[in-house]
Amino acid sequence: MSRILAACIVALVAFAPACQKKATIAPPTVVEDYSYARLDEVAVTHMDLDLIVDFGLQTISGIAAFDLDNKSDANVVHFDTWALHIQDVTIDGKEARWQLGDSVALLGRPLSVAITPESRRVTVRYATTNDARGVQWLMPPQTLGKHHPYVYTQSQSYHARSWVPCQDTPANRFTYSARVHVPAELLAVMSASNPQERSVEGVYQFEMKQPIPSYLLALAVGDIAYRRIGPRTGVYSEPGLVKAAAAEFSDMENMMDAAEAMMGPYLWERFDVLVLPPSFPFGGMENPRLTFATPVLVAGDRSLVSVIVHELAHSWSGNLVTNATWNDFWLNEGFTTYLERRLDEVLYGREYMEMQTLLGLRDVDLDFEEYGVDHKDSALLLDLGDRDFEEVSTTAAYEKGCLFLRMLEESFGRETFDPFLRGYFDAHAFQTMTTERFVAYMKEHLFANDEAKYAELLVDDWIYKPGMPANTPKPKSTRFKQVDAQIAAFARGTPARFLQTEGWTTNEWQRFLDNLPQPLTHERLADLESAFRFEKMNAVVQRSWFPNVIASKYEPAYPALEDFLLSIGRRYLIRPVYMKLAETPEGLEFARRVYAQARPGYHAITQQGIDPVLKWSEVAAQTPDERQ
Ligand code: BES
Ligand code: ZN
Repeated sequence: MSRILAACIVALVAFAPACQKKATIAPPTVVEDYSYARLDEVAVTHMDLDLIVDFGLQTISGIAAFDLDNKSDANVVHFDTWALHIQDVTIDGKEARWQLGDSVALLGRPLSVAITPESRRVTVRYATTNDARGVQWLMPPQTLGKHHPYVYTQSQSYHARSWVPCQDTPANRFTYSARVHVPAELLAVMSASNPQERSVEGVYQFEMKQPIPSYLLALAVGDIAYRRIGPRTGVYSEPGLVKAAAAEFSDMENMMDAAEAMMGPYLWERFDVLVLPPSFPFGGMENPRLTFATPVLVAGDRSLVSVIVHELAHSWSGNLVTNATWNDFWLNEGFTTYLERRLDEVLYGREYMEMQTLLGLRDVDLDFEEYGVDHKDSALLLDLGDRDFEEVSTTAAYEKGCLFLRMLEESFGRETFDPFLRGYFDAHAFQTMTTERFVAYMKEHLFANDEAKYAELLVDDWIYKPGMPANTPKPKSTRFKQVDAQIAAFARGTPARFLQTEGWTTNEWQRFLDNLPQPLTHERLADLESAFRFEKMNAVVQRSWFPNVIASKYEPAYPALEDFLLSIGRRYLIRPVYMKLAETPEGLEFARRVYAQARPGYHAITQQGIDPVLKWSEVAAQTPDERQ
């Protein structure tokens, strides 16, 4: 964080009271992991929100009140804010002294409030602004129903501060309650206890009794309906999709049973899924009690439900035992990917799990192609420095993290490894974890302090060095062997309709389309499309189909390609397609034309992922009205 720190000190020197109260308040002197909070001094233990969601003004405004644990008789508490308008601050009902410091890149502005060791409750009255990175406002045309607006938040990794002032670091946990006022025809849901029906007045009450880190704060408001799946599970979505979504995710109770059998009791009471409008930038987001998901998952054949399995697994790895810093991200995502695959094996069979693992490894290879095999972000423990975490590739955290745990599993055997893992979650529930503490715990509880074995398994290489270590497990899939034989047959000239593709699922199609010889002639692409109709398959298959189309400039498929890019906002699905287009000047021109139209409808996170691919700043410089 060195450069951020330096910038902060400069900001300190220039620190000017930005509010009515003139008295100086010691501003933050240390910045850790993208946050101004000083948890060793004061930590928030509970937050009460009373908010109004105003679609006309596109603001969330109201009150955030914090209970404090003042550990060191501190006389100031620092909160993170990003583009928030702070109206006033009180302490235990009395007007407080406070200051909003200067803005620092990535961090935003510190809100510093003078306190005494006796101060219990700090209350902040505030409103969001147009620059709230963690909030996406959708106009009715961007929804399925087309009649009502919609708003949702995405707080991970450090965007909670753009809609709630908070100690925005995963190193602290707090409970929360909220009252949210919305237009009477809309429903509000949060990462908390949720309503299943609309309230007449448009007022909703929420409670999250389990302490969570700030990145798991979440809110969505829209024309949302609920449908039950099982005693602990259900789906929320726009009314037009709720039936299909419930059918797609009907396996959720089984998923929970399988997860509890492996990781221990589910401690969050309910597990519901909110299916968002298409601009949602991720496949899924593990907001506790209410996973947020892209509508692309509602594919009709349950072929993409492993994303839900992944988000459910976060209920242990991430939500229960939380990475202490974003450098430790693999403790969230590597563990979750490992658990996801283990649950895939229980629910859908070993073959399915191996196919998913091999597809994951292909993403690692693509990353190595893009950034080089030695790029430092392929070490499990990241060294983010002052970079924007959202611009750092995290494929290794997911896939290498998963394979590291699988390597341990295969070396020790499941009879030893599974109880170790379960014990790890039990011992650290509702706590945060650093890589260093995990390594110490693992040395003691898994390796029984056997240093020779620790060295033999190359653990330090896995964690601290880039690339894939020599003892990387080798997944095996007989179904992919069969797919590879069909690729070879096609390459030899066998027409598409003679290929043996019966029973293929999304996994096999991805393998097939990712490995076809390049470039294919237009005749062969037409042959493939007429035999298999990829454009009618799900978006994950299309993500693999379109790069073939682009490599051969197969124009008949361009309207479908354009439609794909305009209708989907999930970064993982569209970024590789834009990358393929950007490889040639004509492709880049086409991509920029479509992007100009699509970009305003994408979430800021997706825009941030694609802008550099299309060198959008150059285009935006030419057409000022495109600038955001
Ligand atoms: N927590 C992540 C999404 C995330 C990561 C948001 C980093 C912001 C910063 C979520 O659990 C996730 O991994 N989603 C994946 C799902 C997939 C790996 C099954 C996604 O959206 O692609
Ligand atoms: Zn995840």
